[in-house]
Amino acid sequence: MWSGRFSGKPDKLMQEFSESVSFDKRLWREDIEGSLAYAAELQRIGILTEKELADIKRGFEQIKQEIESGKFEWKVELEDVHMNIESRLTALIGDAGKKLHTGRSRNDQVATDMRLWCGNQAAALNAACEQLMRAIVACAESGVDVVIPAYTHLQRAMPVRMAHHLSAHVSALIRCNRAFTNARRSSRDEMPLGSSACTGNSFRVDMNKLSRALDAEGDTSIGAIPASNSMDAVSNRDFALDLVYACAKCMTHLSRIAEDLIIWSSAEFGFITLGDAVTTGSSIMPQKRNPDACELVRGKTGRVVGHLMGLFTLLKGLPMTYNRDLQEDKEAVFDATDQTLACLRVMALVFSKENFMVNKERIHAHLDSGAGYMEAMNVADWLVLQGVPFREGHDITGRLVKYCEQNKKRFADLTAADLAAVDKRLKPELLKELSLEALVERKQVYAGTAKARVLERLAELKSWLGEK
Ligand code: ARG
Repeated sequence: MWSGRFSGKPDKLMQEFSESVSFDKRLWREDIEGSLAYAAELQRIGILTEKELADIKRGFEQIKQEIESGKFEWKVELEDVHMNIESRLTALIGDAGKKLHTGRSRNDQVATDMRLWCGNQAAALNAACEQLMRAIVACAESGVDVVIPAYTHLQRAMPVRMAHHLSAHVSALIRCNRAFTNARRSSRDEMPLGSSACTGNSFRVDMNKLSRALDAEGDTSIGAIPASNSMDAVSNRDFALDLVYACAKCMTHLSRIAEDLIIWSSAEFGFITLGDAVTTGSSIMPQKRNPDACELVRGKTGRVVGHLMGLFTLLKGLPMTYNRDLQEDKEAVFDATDQTLACLRVMALVFSKENFMVNKERIHAHLDSGAGYMEAMNVADWLVLQGVPFREGHDITGRLVKYCEQNKKRFADLTAADLAAVDKRLKPELLKELSLEALVERKQVYAGTAKARVLERLAELKSWLGEK
């Protein structure tokens, strides 16, 4: 491609070192899409004839078939996806292929390809994220009457509907989904095609037309806009940062979901049993059922967050404009998004009916033990309603908990005489307020865990997801 200026060939070691085709060939669809848009513009401004444009289209059609059928011969000597495709085009159609690169550079070409690819991948991440939300909402709905302890500091705090706990994770996933949508937008925010190597096109291409031709398919809300500066255009990788950031954020949330399920499925908790399809046994301990799917999700989080750091470090201090360092953006973006996509899909499988089994009796037995005295909050609240200042109510309740501990009683075992022994303001009417169910139902506030509120939230989520 640059043979005119050079008399020697790159060293074999250098060739292997610098090639990117082994990983950037997955940009082939986007590369062809960008080239077709550029060719149409070259024809509009008279650089290509209609016949030449038709030849180019025909050539790309054939290349597409060759790649799809696995017949395309990728050559390391041709360095990257762009030169492999252009060289094949020229072999197929001759001179028109040689004209395609007029006024264009691989610098605006690769930035364009990456933007198109990131936009497509972000759309797939949106879809997978929504699928996972649907699966979690379905689990929440089927267990709306199951009450579990809510924890702070991993110590029992107050009773909560399991559905409320699950929909907390969905709330976080909504933010992840929004981050993927933002990444889709930034994939089209400053379209570089037409910027050439770094200073702009020498021909009269219309950057607006080029951008519009590459708008996100079927989504008019994205709206591609041309880059406002050709130098920034070819060195800007903020869209990649935005996408990998969205992945890192999503993985961080997935790791928390995974961790909850790992804890819940342990023998000590036993709140859920995970199905055979998402767990594995041990080669030595026959009794074991390991939550590997969740553990791998948790583990991959470090890897994806690492890619975000890698990308930032790659971009830090880069002089204007394109530098070959930028070739290193690809593996970070590919792996971060591939792993996140796989994790979203696997977690949706974990939350399927067959794999997410709630052990209602076990949970009930746990709560029935009275450990943690989660009813205490209700006592304090009840005293407030009787006119006792909260701080005093807190103290009285603390003494009641101490009394239970000393007398080895659960709140459920308390009698009117027990209450009176602790404080005369603890009237017998309090006894009927002491169930966990009553405590849960006190949380009638918006975003609370009372049944009506939880059902409202689930309905809201379902209608939002249904519209997707
Ligand atoms: N493979 C290169 C990359 O991914 C394409 C751009 C190369 N441009 C250049 N001037 N060498 O960044």
